[in-house]
Amino acid sequence: MRTPLIAGNWKMYKTAAEATAFVRAFLPMVAGVADVEIVLAPAFTSLGTVAMLTAGSRIAVAAQNVHFETEGAFTGEVSARMLREAGVTHAIVGHSERRQYFAETDASVNLKVKAALAGGLTPILCLGETLAEREADQTFTVVERQLRGGLAGIPATDAGLLVIAYEPVWAIGTGRTATPEQAQEVHALLRALLGAFWHDDAAAASVRILYGGSVNPGNVKSLMSQPDIDGGLVGGASLKPDSFAEIVKFR
Ligand code: 13P
Repeated sequence: MRTPLIAGNWKMYKTAAEATAFVRAFLPMVAGVADVEIVLAPAFTSLGTVAMLTAGSRIAVAAQNVHFETEGAFTGEVSARMLREAGVTHAIVGHSERRQYFAETDASVNLKVKAALAGGLTPILCLGETLAEREADQTFTVVERQLRGGLAGIPATDAGLLVIAYEPVWAIGTGRTATPEQAQEVHALLRALLGAFWHDDAAAASVRILYGGSVNPGNVKSLMSQPDIDGGLVGGASLKPDSFAEIVKFR
């Protein structure tokens, strides 16, 4: 059985002081949650603070990006080893905003997935089609390319160490959620693709595939009732402790 995973991607919101206030309010709200993994992905400047405040709780901390080298002359970048030392356990990789605004490609995303795994971080590999691609019936082609590109060279033995997030670009920050059926269709495809990629259906069955794109307290339950939706990657609705706690407690 795949343990549900609910992750909050704060994007470029919240100073460390604001992150502290969030965590102090949020911790008691989810103190009774035992059957869901919770991940918070604050900005780099808040990672250490959030990791310290959540130590000993069931909340894990994710970076929103990771560089693919271990160290070197890469001004402005942060390595997996640096993140680990700050208490980070997960890294979001290949978010559509990074692909769109920071020129990330399947090739660079693949290097980052490998660097995260090598550095002991759980990569959360994001993929998803744009509205134009969906309307041109390209959804399956696009996500297959992103999945194969992002996971190139990753063996089936790493299946349990990584997470996939399907985030249709047209659903991000738009309030226009994919229907549970639309999301399930792509999630099932992704799982079948993983099975074919690794020639190993058991490995594919062990991978958690999250849905992201306008997840909120009102739609999380119906999304999570789909067989291949194993969690959520939540943007806007993760910024307030009460709405994110409601999502975490979707059951
Ligand atoms: P929203 O939940 O704000 O649509 O953002 C989704 C997202 O991009 C999470 O990574």
